[in-house]
Amino acid sequence: MRNFCTRKLRQLCSLILTCSCFMVSAQEREEILLDDHWKFSRDDEETFSAPLFDDAKWQTVSVPHDWAIYGPFSIHNDKQHTAITQDGQKEALEHAGRTGGLPFVGTGWYRRKITLGKDVQDKRSMLQFDGAMSNAVVFVNGKRVGNWPNGYNSFYFDISAFVVPGENVIAVRLENLSESSRWYPGAGLYRNVHLILSNKTKIAHWGTYITTPHIEADFAEVSIKTQIDRQLEDMEETLVLRTEVFDQERQAVGYGNDTITPYDSRGKQQTIFVSNPKLWSPDTPTLYTAVSKLYVNGELKDTYETPFGIRSIEIIPNKGFYLNGEKTVFKGVCMHHDLGPLGAAVNESAIRRQIRILKDMGVNAIRTSHNMPAPEFVKACDEMGMMVMAESFDEWKLPKVKNGYNLYFDEWAEKDLVNLIHHYRNNPSIVMWCIGNEVPEQASPEGSKVARFLQDICHREDPTRPVTQGMDNPDAVINSSFASTMDVAGFNYRPFKYREAYKKLQQQIILGSETASTISSRGVYKFPVVRRSMAKYDDHQASSYDVEHCSWSDLPEDNFIQHEDLPYAIGEFVWTGFDYLGEPTPYYTDWPSHSSLFGIVDLAGIPKDRYYLYRSHWNTKEKTLHILPHWSWPGREGDTTPVFVYTNYPKAELFINGKSQGIQSKDLSVTRDDSADKQSLDSFVRQKRYRLMWMDTRYEPGVVKVVAYDAAGHIAAVDSVVTAGKPYGLKLEVDRPILKADGKDLAYITISVVDQHGILCPMDDREISFTVKGKGNFKAVANGNPASLESFQAPKMKAFSGKLVAVLETTKERGEIIFEASAKGVKKAMVSVRSE
Ligand code: GAL
Repeated sequence: MRNFCTRKLRQLCSLILTCSCFMVSAQEREEILLDDHWKFSRDDEETFSAPLFDDAKWQTVSVPHDWAIYGPFSIHNDKQHTAITQDGQKEALEHAGRTGGLPFVGTGWYRRKITLGKDVQDKRSMLQFDGAMSNAVVFVNGKRVGNWPNGYNSFYFDISAFVVPGENVIAVRLENLSESSRWYPGAGLYRNVHLILSNKTKIAHWGTYITTPHIEADFAEVSIKTQIDRQLEDMEETLVLRTEVFDQERQAVGYGNDTITPYDSRGKQQTIFVSNPKLWSPDTPTLYTAVSKLYVNGELKDTYETPFGIRSIEIIPNKGFYLNGEKTVFKGVCMHHDLGPLGAAVNESAIRRQIRILKDMGVNAIRTSHNMPAPEFVKACDEMGMMVMAESFDEWKLPKVKNGYNLYFDEWAEKDLVNLIHHYRNNPSIVMWCIGNEVPEQASPEGSKVARFLQDICHREDPTRPVTQGMDNPDAVINSSFASTMDVAGFNYRPFKYREAYKKLQQQIILGSETASTISSRGVYKFPVVRRSMAKYDDHQASSYDVEHCSWSDLPEDNFIQHEDLPYAIGEFVWTGFDYLGEPTPYYTDWPSHSSLFGIVDLAGIPKDRYYLYRSHWNTKEKTLHILPHWSWPGREGDTTPVFVYTNYPKAELFINGKSQGIQSKDLSVTRDDSADKQSLDSFVRQKRYRLMWMDTRYEPGVVKVVAYDAAGHIAAVDSVVTAGKPYGLKLEVDRPILKADGKDLAYITISVVDQHGILCPMDDREISFTVKGKGNFKAVANGNPASLESFQAPKMKAFSGKLVAVLETTKERGEIIFEASAKGVKKAMVSVRSE
């Protein structure tokens, strides 16, 4: 078999050589990004769709645009009087900040003019929305083209019959209902809009489907099925599809050349062999591109590019998830779609920053909870190396929120799922489809049938990826056919049930589809240090000693230990990677709390202490040595102030002002089973396997030093925290000093209040103001305080635990951007960034 293929490959390769100088051009297809010159109004009149309506007084905006992120915050924005039954609430409560406290409810209209050429009537015009929040109704030149209720999904309309040569008007009406969400959804045209012009006979929208069914070290079989949109008048013509595969260096590495017959109406199948394939993985995110060219009677009519990766995925019962034949454990996080202070408005640079931060933590997978991701997100995951579990629904037919997706499920579920899969089935980063999250159907007799219906759609549209869903009712789902229906049984929380689930389920594999929901606030520490569930404090924060969780959830180690000790547990997706707007659990009713405390990273993108705990466990390539808490506690002198160290070194010695506090080693004798009782949980027995903890240390100002030892007992690393002096200045740290002058690229500047030695003043909360000069603009600011009602767009904000993050945006002009931060009582600071 292998010899045969190798011989065949050699023949192919010689053919490839003759055509590898082929140039890729896309004259036959034009994609116009409709990002600027939109007019926007929050009013609502039928006449707004009319081409001649005068929108001159409307606000001019660019898209992506989230109308609600500009605030103001208010307790009255989508206040939900309800009982969140899945969180155990028995009576209706006034949920104030559940959806972020921002004004997303109501209608919004967008209008945009576009001038098209004389030949537009001989073309096909497709209008694609990457996501529009929500209930979109689209008009072209006053005529209703179609609607799409789901705010997260990408959809498109063929508007060829609606457009005319000359000026055209696109109008979009959006409407967000109250009580339609459990978190902040954003509002408006918050993802990109594209107009795609092509010849009438063309490759269908999302019309390629590429799989790599057979991979060996020396070759990979690339299977490409291409759907052609053929016009009746072309039926007599000769259509040829030439598909060429290029590697990352844009060298041609294989091709297929086939005539399309009328019998190919369900798609033309081509098989291309690529020799010595470079496989896609989180560590080696190598991409290939298939360039499909469609010829009619020898004339080139369409060129369509599909980036893809060569990789294999497999779930082996009792063994795990295999990527390219290698057992791979999910070190995953769940992520909502918002980008903190940017709201839901998609920005590639902001997404890439999130992925960079998560990769450094050791994350290899993201679950796009609980909805369809943006194309920029999937592209970044493909290119940067991050596996994705792409989710579709938080709700099926039975409501979690009154006006949620339950209103649309019957009519739209299949269309939504098909669009998600067609859009992303070629992206190598996507390794699993997730059809639901904690749906109330789990406990209903009909539930498994709906699960089966949705899973079957996934299998029909993409037989190569397993399907899962997040289930939080283990008793109901393992004692019915609900969990056993799924390719992969995904459990949300309750890891102590994994063993029972494993015994009862045929799949012999357990996924922690959602785990931990530990809560903490960056830089805030609560004493005494005890494990607490649903703890609330006057300051609306949670302890950064990482010992607090919700009534249904637990601590990071309660999950680490399962996935290490149970061979059939295939990894987890922690709730959540970053904080998000909405769900300020447990401060459900406690305005001004309005954003989550679940994040391992805060809303501003600053890692909390927990980040280093995960990093020490998940990032096996880098060393981690992190001390907490900070050591500036005026008034705590002599009080017990435990010190924790998150590290991947096995042991360390702690010194306070030079005095040894003893050596702590990780206790590897602790197991999942001998640490599961309440007393062990409360006395942090599990934590002793993963954290180094000095519980009895007392505070005295000065230096806390940790000396870490490697396995051989040698000193391997030293770190310290020092008591801060008086606030003296501001320290600025830029994440990327060189940006793209594209009007969209962002620099994130972390600003810390420091003493005269540069030590963080960890409790400082003074207001900091900014100015930006040169070829950039101030974009937004966040401090990670889930109870702050300050505007994300004003060029000033109070520091939270001594820090905040300002965001700069480039213009389309190259040059320097100068950022200055100032605050009362401390020296100001300046930094410059280059935009090229
Ligand atoms: C889960 C749910 C998430 C989030 C989380 C908070 O039950 O799936 O969306 O609400 O709880 O702990």
